[in-house]
Formats: sequence, structure tokens, C-alpha cells
Amino acid sequence: MLPSPSDPIGIFDSGIGGLSVLQHIRQLLPHEKLIYFADSFFAPYGEKNEQAIIDRCQSITDFLLRQHCKAIVIACNTATAAAAKVLRTKYPTQILIGMEPGLKPACQHTRTGVIGVMATQGTLNSQKFRNLREQLSTTHQVKFVEQSCTGLADQIEKAEFSSPKTLAMLEQYLTPLLESGTDTIVLGCTHYPFVKQQIEALIQHKCGNGLPLELIDTGLAVARHLQAQLQSHGLQSTNSETSIIHAYTSGTPQHLEAALAQLLPQLHSHIVVHAATEHITTEEEPI
Ligand code: DGL
Repeated sequence: MLPSPSDPIGIFDSGIGGLSVLQHIRQLLPHEKLIYFADSFFAPYGEKNEQAIIDRCQSITDFLLRQHCKAIVIACNTATAAAAKVLRTKYPTQILIGMEPGLKPACQHTRTGVIGVMATQGTLNSQKFRNLREQLSTTHQVKFVEQSCTGLADQIEKAEFSSPKTLAMLEQYLTPLLESGTDTIVLGCTHYPFVKQQIEALIQHKCGNGLPLELIDTGLAVARHLQAQLQSHGLQSTNSETSIIHAYTSGTPQHLEAALAQLLPQLHSHIVVHAATEHITTEEEPI
């Protein structure tokens, strides 16, 4: 069946991180039907092997296609790096929007020529990321200082935004970046915008007002790219009402409800949470 403008848009992430992208999509495209999939049972993706991530992305994409999604947004840098190519090959006519850490906008912004990149180990190790880094280092004469933030997405997934453990982790990860002379830090994982305030407070504490530091995340750019793709395919919704958002989770609905209440209080009452029990395929306890 050919996609139609009234079909929904599917958005997925390893967990709640992609909600930082969903909020931009909802703001820019308020009349679109949205379906979100949080793979919280299998989060974090950042330290998983590539094939395991590809398998998860494959079954989530199949699930979203069964809901007739006209476009799918991989709202996860790690998943995009591992699986976007495979999914594009398998579904060549499907609108599939991936994410990559905002190295390009960071190049436009930096004055010192030193750019910090916070991301998962999976993203930093990927060929896709390495190619982008090599290309931009040459064309823009900049230096990228990478910081793998092992465990940080997991802390956010557990809703520990300001716990002593999370703050200690942020300090550990930010210190080398700040000492490197960076004036621009890329938040290369969709979970990290949810600790943006904590990052800003830490930078303020360590640098005072001396160093104007820009934090880059690409949620809005992805929403704009999605809008352009829908327009060029004649698939933008013609509806004038805003609809309920359906959010599925492979973890527990209570976990997603609690995250929504904390992270997207203004949208929470417009979101119906469902358990995606068919996606739980192991014996472990969901978080
Ligand atoms: N939110 C994901 C990203 O953008 C990954 C977090 C994780 O599951 O490790 O990279």
C-alpha cells in the first residue's frame, strides 16, 4: 500500500533519549500523527555489538511499518551509525531519517578550532562517525576531541538526572574537554539534551563566565529534515487537528510514564503509553 499524508510518523530510540527529538518534531509538525518506540528493555545500545543493534532496529522498524508509518526517524545516533545503511538497503523506498552527532554545525560555530564530542562508544567507534570526522577535520582545519560517555545514557534512562553518580560522571567526562580548549561541545547522543542544564551548571562552575561555550544538539535539524522530506514526497499531513501520540516501550509502561512526566510535562497528557510485550524476547527484568 502506498503511503498517504494521513499515515503516522514512527520515531525510535534505545530508550527515552529520542523524546528529545520527538519534542522538536511535535513542535514543528503539530498536525502529524506520531508513534514513538522506546527500546528501554534493551538500552543502552552504546556498549552493544553492532549486530545486536541491527537486529533490534530491524524488528522495531518492522513493527513501525506494520503501523503504516509513512516515515521513520531513527532518533538515536548509535542506532543510526550501526543500522541505517542496512535498513536503507532493505527498504529503499521508505523515508528513513537518521541522526549523526552535530559535527557540521559545530565547525560553523567554533572559534578556537577545538570541538568536543560527547557520544557513546558505539557511535565513536563507527565507520560512519570516523569518516565524518576525517572529512571535516581536513575541510575545516578543526580538531575533534572525543569523549566516550560510558554509562551516562543509562543514568538518564534511570531518570537519575542530578544524582551524585550522574554529576560525578559528567564532571569526569567534561573535564578533559574543557582542558582541551574547546569552545563547542557536541551532544552526540539523544539522551544527553536531558542533562543539558546539569552540563551548563558544571561548565559555569568550572569556567565561570570566562569561556562562552556552545552545546550543539541536532534534534531541531532532524525535525526540519523530516519536514523537508515529507514535503518533497507530498506526504505532509493536511489534518488541522493535533492527535494523541502513541508511545510503545519494550520496558515497563510505568518507567516511560515517569520519564514523560518529568521530561515532557507539557506533552504528557497527549501521550498514550503501551507495553510492547511482543518485543521482549529475553528472560531479563525490564528496567
Ligand atoms: N540515545 C542513543 C544515541 O543517540 C544511545 C544511548 C544508548 O542506548 O547507549 O546514541
